[in-house]
Amino acid sequence: MIPIRIAVAKGRLEDEIIALLGKAGMDCSAAQDKGRKLIVPIDGGKIEIVLAKANDIITYVEHGVCDLGIVGKDTIMEAGPSLYEVMDLGFGRCRMMLAASIDVDFYQGFGAKSVATKYPSIAGAFFESKAMDVNIIKIEGSVELAPLLGLADAIVDIVETGSTLRANGLEEKELICDISARLVVNVACMKMRKLEIEDLIDRLRRVMEDPVGKAKAEVTGS
Ligand code: PRP
Repeated sequence: MIPIRIAVAKGRLEDEIIALLGKAGMDCSAAQDKGRKLIVPIDGGKIEIVLAKANDIITYVEHGVCDLGIVGKDTIMEAGPSLYEVMDLGFGRCRMMLAASIDVDFYQGFGAKSVATKYPSIAGAFFESKAMDVNIIKIEGSVELAPLLGLADAIVDIVETGSTLRANGLEEKELICDISARLVVNVACMKMRKLEIEDLIDRLRRVMEDPVGKAKAEVTGS
């Protein structure tokens, strides 16, 4: 039996993903006790969880070394469509925003603006749709620093609670799109392991559609 490999984003989404797989009937006890292991067999070895950085999930699933991946819509949009995106998993909700200092009117004036972001493709497409010529500056993390340091007029970044913006004198200026965790599948694996993958998708979908199960999970934190 060749296990189905699911690449999972380490960090924020990890616990919710493991909880979802557990609710779908998979024995995830090995994942609670994984230590520093990066490939964790669950459900009696039928499934392997591969813990990876969000951007790398796209690469592993694109190359077919992982059959499926669970990753934020932001990462998928930035990478471009090379995978089947089969399900919105409903958690990891946040929004892609244009944000700037509270005293800045971003759209005022005629000079080309500078925008810092971890998402140059998303930001580029957004300003292109407005026919705006914007200088996009790629930043790897804590993008909020760029306007504070005078490097950029604004940022394009994900906002969840808004605390980071508020703590740094910035505010949301315009919504670009809503974000949540998505299930993605390698195009060839979807054909070659159709029945197994469809079965797994069905199990996840049943959990998503079962509000009682969801409510119970919220109470128990499982
Ligand atoms: C993300 C994002 C913001 C912050 C928003 O960063 O880039 O900085 O979270 O969350 P909030 O609205 O709840 O404050 P992350 O924590 O992933 O770290 P990074 O910037 O170093 O990538």
